[in-house]
Amino acid sequence: MKKQDTPSFEKKENPLSAEEMDILRSRTKNIGDRSKIPPPEKKNQSKAVKLAKKNKSSAVVISVIAVAFVLVVALLAVYLSESLGLNSKKNYTFTFGKEQVKEKYEDIVINDVLYVDMAKLASFSDMSVSGGADTRKYLVSEDQYLKFTNADEYAVINGAKVVIESPAIINTEKCLVPYQFISKAVSTGLSFKHDQRKNTVEINRTTYTVDGEKFKEDITFSHEKFQIAQAIQSTVGVKYEYNTDVSNFLAYIDPEDATPYLLLVNPENPLDGSFVPENMSAIPSKYTGKETYMLVGCAERALTAMMQAMYADGISAVYVTSAYRSYTYQYNLFEGYVKNKISVGMSREAAEAEVLKTSARPGTSEHQSGLCVDFMTTSMTTLNNEDFERSRAFEWLSQNAYKYGYILRYPEEKKAEVFYDYESWHFRFVGREAATEIYFSGLCLEEYLALI
Ligand code: DAL
Ligand code: ZN
Repeated sequence: MKKQDTPSFEKKENPLSAEEMDILRSRTKNIGDRSKIPPPEKKNQSKAVKLAKKNKSSAVVISVIAVAFVLVVALLAVYLSESLGLNSKKNYTFTFGKEQVKEKYEDIVINDVLYVDMAKLASFSDMSVSGGADTRKYLVSEDQYLKFTNADEYAVINGAKVVIESPAIINTEKCLVPYQFISKAVSTGLSFKHDQRKNTVEINRTTYTVDGEKFKEDITFSHEKFQIAQAIQSTVGVKYEYNTDVSNFLAYIDPEDATPYLLLVNPENPLDGSFVPENMSAIPSKYTGKETYMLVGCAERALTAMMQAMYADGISAVYVTSAYRSYTYQYNLFEGYVKNKISVGMSREAAEAEVLKTSARPGTSEHQSGLCVDFMTTSMTTLNNEDFERSRAFEWLSQNAYKYGYILRYPEEKKAEVFYDYESWHFRFVGREAATEIYFSGLCLEEYLALI
């Protein structure tokens, strides 16, 4: 069986016929001429060259794609960095009409605020300049002017005091003013264009044409776009008249740095439980009845000046009934009010809600700051608006407190802003400047502080 399965070539008959064998012989008779038969190595070499050629062209294509890809990525990076402002630290070009001025980035962008060199703007727009080492006044006509003081938070536009976003930087050599401010303050006569991507600023004179003749538009300034300006404007030129000699008190009434006296304390701006004001002094007993009440020194001196003035006007049946209150004192006061209400059947929640209309939770009372006082008249037995509003003391304080740096802290029409019901007896020291601005603007302390 095995033998049968094994093929035997010898035994196999030639599958080609004699005729087919002749054809085959005739085709292979020149087989000795090896030149006609390509050597196998040559055949292989040719394939390699072809492959190499093919690879070479593929490499060229890949290289072209790679270069194009790199180019696209580079272009994209430039575009993105420009549009995202990543490349914005390049120097600035200011164009005043036809004149170009190059400014180094770090000379003109200070604390991320872009400034304009007022000397260049003034000479371009024919403004006259006056001022000392740290002030400058730029005037185009008698009633059209801008005034800056180095590092001051205010600028003056045509006599109106307005808050400047970032202070002007002034010394003997230069006067830099924020671009935002100047482009907003100029009402007519100049056009401003700032390209933040290219870091260019173009300032041009605006013109109008009459009978084919071109004229430069007059330059005017406006404070209308400055909200605070309107609130503060009316304080410019305020004349403070005093019925007593306040020369010894003026440094307290109008402190050089009023910042510590602008401290905001309300339910949203609490004080730490451990906070105790520094440098407190006792209010003279003449103005407090039997109790000893403390205030921050400056506020105490200003209050003393105010009480003297009120007494000098014949109003002496008035005294201070509360001033600095410690956290613990306020805690007991607040809890006492709440417990009183609970004792007549209110839930704690309802009692607290009711008490919070007129009394602060411990830590949120302005009394803890040592900057405020409550007044009462000798004929009053409890603190209430009806009685105090009728008093001459209230009338006097309403008209004069600002001159001594005090404000009515919780006005009737500002309940929502100040968090408490009207308190005609509660006065707060902020310094004369802020007090005047608050008094004339009708803003409450919260609104005022949000604006400055
Ligand atoms: N009466 C004021 C709001 C206070 O308790 O501080
Ligand atoms: Zn009070």
